[in-house]
Parts: sequence; structure tokens; C-alpha cells
Amino acid sequence: MFITIEGVEGSGKSTQLLRLSERLRRLGLPLVVSKEPGGTPLGRELRRLLLEPHASGDAWCPDSELLLFYADRAQHLYAVIRPALAAKQVVLVDRFEDSSRAYQGASGVPDASLDRLSDLVLKGLRPDLTVILDVDPEVSLQRVEVRNLSLGTEFAETRFDHAALAFHRQVRERFLQIARSHPDRVALVPARDPVEQVEAAIWARVAPKLRHAGFEVS
Ligand SMILES: Nc1ncnc2c1ncn2[C@@H]1O[C@H](COP(=O)(O)OP(=O)(O)OP(=O)(O)O)[C@@H](O)[C@H]1O
Ligand SMILES: [Mg+2]
Repeated sequence: MFITIEGVEGSGKSTQLLRLSERLRRLGLPLVVSKEPGGTPLGRELRRLLLEPHASGDAWCPDSELLLFYADRAQHLYAVIRPALAAKQVVLVDRFEDSSRAYQGASGVPDASLDRLSDLVLKGLRPDLTVILDVDPEVSLQRVEVRNLSLGTEFAETRFDHAALAFHRQVRERFLQIARSHPDRVALVPARDPVEQVEAAIWARVAPKLRHAGFEVS
């Protein structure tokens, strides 16, 4: 069972992934929790190169950025996701391919390029369920600001935090488009509500999928 969680920055992905993983652990399910970019040791190097501004001021062009994200994903699939799925584990991933489609798509990468890389790297693998947390970026970016102030360096602002609100609104629209195009795979969950309410809405979509796959989650 392969579950991904997606959404704009500060939509609550990490918060909700933690809550979901704690719930699944309590239920005794075999679980692997990971994230992109940076789900492997080599991928963490790529994460740093992708998200931290470079001292030289040099910045990735959209195609380089795209290829690095997919290099990270290929390594993650090879070293973590595919082995865990083969071992019948539940795999929870914080951001996956829909983030590439939303962010790199909003940066101007054509869908055809994303489709080709997707064929190359995913080889037909798709999440069984993708939770997209939907919230106005104006709200979520404010959350990010508060989080970064209170948590200091470990959650230091990344390059994407500085992008304009208009860009984040485009990203949100792309996530909404993905949800409309893949109604069987995607659960669109309103993420403006309090944490507990969002958690309950996610569980209402995850539990039936797990049951259907034969996991005991009563
Ligand atoms: N439903 C909520 N209501 C209010 N605040 C929330 C809610 N969910 C999360 N937060 C807070 O908002 C901040 C961002 O949440 P979180 O880090 O989980 O988002 P994220 O989607 O993982 O962000 P990023 O894309 O930067 O990784 C955190 O400080 C978190 O405690
Ligand atoms: Mg996060």
C-alpha cells in the first residue's frame, strides 16, 4: 500500500503524516515513512542542492531542477519504496510525483516532459492513494513563517518559501487539477480546519483503502 501526501507549503503535510504514521503504528501495521526530496542518504545531498540557495547566487534552470528531482525520486524508488512495497509494507511518503507536476509545471516545464520522465522513473508505479491537502497559500505561508520563527535552523526557510504568492496559487490550482483528473487515486482534503479535523478527514479516506487491501484497521 503506497500512500503519498501532497499540498502547498505549510498545508500540514508533515504534521498529518506524523499523526497518520503514529496511528498506523498503534494499529501494528508494518510501516515505512519517508519524504521527497531526500528519502535516501544520496537524496539528502540532492535535497540540499535543490532547496538551499547556493552561495554563488547560481540557480538551477527549470530543466536541471526537474532532472534532479527525478534523480532523487529514482533513487528513492530503488532503495526505499519498491523494496518496502515488495515486502508488503505500508509506505507513507511526504511529497511525491504530484509535487513535481504542480511545482515544475507551474515553473513552466511542459506536461510532455513530465510524462516522459515519469515513464522513465516510475515505470507505471502509482500511489494507491494520494492525499492532497488543500488550503489558500496565503494561510499556509503564514503558518510556515510562524513555524520557521519558532523552530529555528532545522526548518530554515527554503528557496521555495520566497517565491511569490501568485506562484503558490498556481501550484494550488495544479494540485486541484490533479485531484480532478485522478478522482480514484486522489483524496482532496480541506486543510484550513484545525489539525484534529484534518486528521479525521484523512483517516476517513485512508482507512477504507487499507481495509480493502486486507489490513486490519478497525
Ligand atoms: N490544520 C492546521 N491549522 C493550523 N496550523 C497548522 C495546521 N496544520 C499544520 N499547522 C502548522 O503549520 C505549520 C506548517 O505545517 P507543516 O510543517 O506540517 O506543513 P508542511 O505542509 O509539511 O510544510 P512544508 O511544505 O514546508 O514541508 C506548522 O507549524 C504546523 O504546526
Ligand atoms: Mg513538511
